[in-house]
Amino acid sequence: MTFADALWAQLQHGRTLWVVGFWAVVTALASAAPEARGRLRLPSFLLALYLLTTVVVAALIADGRDPHTLGVFNLAFELLALVGLGQVLVFSVALPRLGVRLPRILVDVVTGVAVVIALIFVGKRAGFSVAGLITTSAVITAVLGFALQDTLGNLMGGLALQLDSSVKVGDWIALGLGDREGQVVDIRWRYTAVETRAWETVLIPNSTLMKSQVVVIGRRQGAPLRVRRQVDFQVDFRTPPTEVLATVREALTTDRPALVEAQPPLQVLFIAIKDSVAAYCVRYWLSDLANDDPADSDVRTRVFFALQRAGIALSIPAQAVFVSHDDDARKARKEHDALVARQAALAAVDVFAPLDEAERANLADRLRRAPFAAGEAVTREGEHDDGLYIIVEGTAEVRIGEGDAARTIATLGPGQFFGEMALLTGEVRSATVLATTDLQCYRIDKHGFEAMMRARPALADAVADVLADRRIALASAREEAGDGAPAKAEVKRDLLDRIRAFFALR
Ligand code: CMP
Repeated sequence: MTFADALWAQLQHGRTLWVVGFWAVVTALASAAPEARGRLRLPSFLLALYLLTTVVVAALIADGRDPHTLGVFNLAFELLALVGLGQVLVFSVALPRLGVRLPRILVDVVTGVAVVIALIFVGKRAGFSVAGLITTSAVITAVLGFALQDTLGNLMGGLALQLDSSVKVGDWIALGLGDREGQVVDIRWRYTAVETRAWETVLIPNSTLMKSQVVVIGRRQGAPLRVRRQVDFQVDFRTPPTEVLATVREALTTDRPALVEAQPPLQVLFIAIKDSVAAYCVRYWLSDLANDDPADSDVRTRVFFALQRAGIALSIPAQAVFVSHDDDARKARKEHDALVARQAALAAVDVFAPLDEAERANLADRLRRAPFAAGEAVTREGEHDDGLYIIVEGTAEVRIGEGDAARTIATLGPGQFFGEMALLTGEVRSATVLATTDLQCYRIDKHGFEAMMRARPALADAVADVLADRRIALASAREEAGDGAPAKAEVKRDLLDRIRAFFALR
């Protein structure tokens, strides 16, 4: 047989003309789609190999030799070229024209299955059954299983991601630690490709995506894509926060920067005072996730100019260092100043007016500072406790009863004292005294007071006088006083007796 006869027979037998015709049709159709054109390269190369091997097979036949082995390769090239051309025709030309865009992973899987079928077919021609080999040989199955473990994990992961849409093409996801983020551009059979703002493409194996926690940025069910951004700025802490907040809010809402979303509305917040600066932030919403830094920059620029227009200075780092030389003289001076302040507090209280200088100094020595915040209870009705308090600054309310039945029966201010009833009689607190403003008090305990009562027993009389008035007011507030209520003199005498007994003054 001549070479020409052999070649002609081969071309007819191998459906070569049909295959070349198919290639020509697909190439013509794909010429309109640049993406499809790129995909044609491999099938075209396989087709070229197929044609080449066809010629060589014909030459071998003409030479009278057996072309069996090369024939197997020839078939393999032919089938693989057909699979490639089919893939381009269906997935890159026909379906896109119908408006259907399948996920890449599905295309990869279908192509992969077609290639395996083609290879089984080629194996059969070569004289052995690939399928039978895999199903009957446990060793090969195990080796294949191990080798494909990761690949199958990735493949399954990729299919799962596509099926449950947990991560979709177009989603922005956080990449590991730090603030690296990127947009998912492709989910393939092995990896998911993510493009970052820094023009990098990060390939994450699908199995890793499945196993680890993934943060999908800006996505919330039933809500449009957006993310909350925060732009910090610091202002001199002497500027009233209300002024700063109003200035910045007005500047950003009357003329909103282009990238800032209208809804939800932006917030301007006073977030901290530290190191002599007042820290503020603007929180706004952004839907153009690729432009986060430019949007922040716009907002920052607006804040800068708005503050300048309002004459509000941005903070400069400032620190005050206090250095004091703590010697004995200074210590003595400080103690003396504190004592003078305590004596002044005592002098302002009527009942302590009869005390002479030395006695007042002695009592002042026993006073302790006791500040309370507005709203704090200094004494609680019914509790055991024995301090007497002298108010220096602020006001307090005397209340009885609890919950809805609570009533204010008196208001006390600077120069007045309270807590004397429990201290002088040893009874539980008769009322709750509540600081209505921040309260500066001095406190004296039973021992301190006792020492002074012993030094000047006449004090008991003055205190008992105040106490009697308060007792009567308390009783009438509690509606305990009936027609036969004792007169003040009687109450006072009774109290005086109890005070003397309590302090063993007799
Ligand atoms: P004491 O009972 O130790 O604790 C509650 C205090 O409220 C009480 O002492 C008094 O000092 C004070 N107090 C009670 N009733 C009156 C009142 N009518 N007027 C002013 N202060 C009072």
